[in-house]
Amino acid sequence: MTVAAVGQPLIRKDGHAKVTGAAKYSADWPVEKVHYGVIFESAIASGKVLGFDIEDAGKVPGVVEIITYKNAPSLHSIPSQLRMSLGDPQLPLQNNRIYYNGQPLGVVVAQTLEAAEQAAQLVKMRYQSDIALLNFEEIRKSSAKTVKKDVAGRKATDRKGDVEAQIKKSAQVVSATYTTPIENHHPIETHSTVAIWTGKQLKVYDATQGVANLGKLLSEAFKVSADNMQVISKFIGGGFGSKGSAWTHIFIAVMAAKVTQVPVKIVITRNQMSTNIGYRANSIQNVTLGSDQNGKLLAIKHETVNPTSIKKDFLEPAGSLFKMMYAAPAIATTQKVVNLNYPGPTFMRAPGECPGSFALESAMDELAAVLKLDPIEIRLRNYAENDPMKDVPFSSKSLRECYRLGAEKFGWSRYKIKPGTERHGDSYVGYGMASGSYPVHFFPAQAKVELLNDGTAKVVSATQDIGTGTYTVMTQLAADALGLPYEKVTFDLGDSHYPAAGPSGGSSTVSSVGWAIADASQNLLNQLKKIASQDRASALFNLKSEQITARDASLIDVNDSSRSETYVELLRRNNKTSLVAAGKMNEKQQKENESKFSQHAYGAHFAEVRVHHLTGEVTLVKMVGAFAAGKIVNPKTARSQFMGGMIFGIGMGLTEQNIVDERSGKFMLRDLAEYHVPVNKDVPEIEIVFVEEKDSIVNPAGTKGIGEIGNVGSAAAIANAVFNATGIRIRDLPITPDKLAIELHKRS
Ligand code: MOS
Repeated sequence: MTVAAVGQPLIRKDGHAKVTGAAKYSADWPVEKVHYGVIFESAIASGKVLGFDIEDAGKVPGVVEIITYKNAPSLHSIPSQLRMSLGDPQLPLQNNRIYYNGQPLGVVVAQTLEAAEQAAQLVKMRYQSDIALLNFEEIRKSSAKTVKKDVAGRKATDRKGDVEAQIKKSAQVVSATYTTPIENHHPIETHSTVAIWTGKQLKVYDATQGVANLGKLLSEAFKVSADNMQVISKFIGGGFGSKGSAWTHIFIAVMAAKVTQVPVKIVITRNQMSTNIGYRANSIQNVTLGSDQNGKLLAIKHETVNPTSIKKDFLEPAGSLFKMMYAAPAIATTQKVVNLNYPGPTFMRAPGECPGSFALESAMDELAAVLKLDPIEIRLRNYAENDPMKDVPFSSKSLRECYRLGAEKFGWSRYKIKPGTERHGDSYVGYGMASGSYPVHFFPAQAKVELLNDGTAKVVSATQDIGTGTYTVMTQLAADALGLPYEKVTFDLGDSHYPAAGPSGGSSTVSSVGWAIADASQNLLNQLKKIASQDRASALFNLKSEQITARDASLIDVNDSSRSETYVELLRRNNKTSLVAAGKMNEKQQKENESKFSQHAYGAHFAEVRVHHLTGEVTLVKMVGAFAAGKIVNPKTARSQFMGGMIFGIGMGLTEQNIVDERSGKFMLRDLAEYHVPVNKDVPEIEIVFVEEKDSIVNPAGTKGIGEIGNVGSAAAIANAVFNATGIRIRDLPITPDKLAIELHKRS
């Protein structure tokens, strides 16, 4: 009997191709006559470019063209329903206006990368500078705008009950401001685009988290019919949200290829990754928690503000977690943005929930500390049995088990409520924990299944594998849905000509595309059953569809398993080389589920730290993450996802930040030497606990998405452990040694 593929810790299908270098990332495709584009950028944050001096640049041997707004093709405007997929809503090189430092002002196209780089350095710009809005701290005081809905369309500013009255009634009130820094994505593969025009046909290899959306955008901007437009993205070296929107370089590459009539490749430099592809906006979050003397919450109040660009109100929806994590009679969230001459921020792994969790889970820890309660105990006392804001049940929720199993694995019994009581050599030792949650998101998705008469099946969808294991897990889901062994099924993706699916974002892929595969497989099996029941030579002749089951590559009589035949026999006898079926996620059902239930994955984070008593250096000793996220399709790739998310939290907690020069508007930390992503030496032993969870509502496979939840709460657990070690509460991330050392020195 065929073993179910779902739930097996199978190795990645693409693993071999990746480690041998055979996997083709967008910039790797060999393209004949390809030329190289290098973008040059504005050095001012606001104003106009008055002119370009391109004479020296044009003399560099190999330079073919220099394109600026003066000679760039005019782009057609993007219809409003697609504009959300634009990184920068202002299409590039269309006029001389400048809104941020680092804005692309033109591109050099040359026969070699070296020539293009050299020439791009030689282009000189003359500017007219306007006053730039750059001081976030100041400008927010007068010009913060309240946002009604976040980018996912959820209510951003929300309330229930009378939060002020409940705060007045509270026996304990904790009120504090938490800040999180600008974070950059920095996947290993920087963004890259190869644009190839063949007459009216446009083919683009692009490192994108959304081939279907990008195809639609480029079709509109360049007026290319859907048939003539193809976006390919077979492998992506990480995205974390930065490749979820179409940024300026993609349009520039396509324009450059159009102007020069040769294929053009643009690879974004590590330096450009700081400004041209989005970032996580910094946040200032005011939190007030009010409780009775037993720590039962009466009021949860949260106000957050983040900078955004002049052109787009991008909210980092840090309030989302405050609305659903804990039960309270009164909850109020206010979310604001401030338009500045900054490049546009964007989605970054668990947008909103991630920075929000630092504020909420730190504040809960502060409340526990003043009440002298165990941090797990205070969370259990405020456990939300229903969605506190929407007042609907959860489709499933296993957070209690996350606390219990995570605590057990971590050894939480070592925790002492009084901070600063444990020493190890020159360091204080501390333990911290935090809750995490991430919603189950969906994007409409379609898939196509083809069953061949050799007993294999091919499944395709225009989804992407951003490094998470999509090739592998979709094959697992399809194999089980089709009743075929895993080895007999292939899954392909990353081609906009396949049936459309959404961007690989919001941890939505397995839930959405998996649903489409389930539907397509069902449709295919129904066709097959029909053939069997109409086939006089079949053992299943005249049986109704519900009297036939499919497994082990065979159709079988439900009431008599001796009556069966294989898919292969059936197809061959009926002279069919293959059978094809389409399927899609059931959007209507999904919307209905969402209105009746609150659907979330949950996690509990635990961290053990040592803090040097003089230098304030924080060393992580151990982290445990316990996660309940519905059905886990592949524990091996899932474990990597959870760990990756937690390591993202180490970056947010201890090492990562970008800084804006308020005179020029330039993002200052532009390479991996200055912008510190955690490296192996920063990462301790991490253990992942899988908390089994069955969710029969959320989608056919019962999956909840796991890409982002690992990043929700891990920075807070670290900050709470630092407090437990030292008694010092750092509310401003990252917790760099200087911030702790100042406080430690005050004591000594
Ligand atoms: Mo993710 S930030 O939704 O790619």
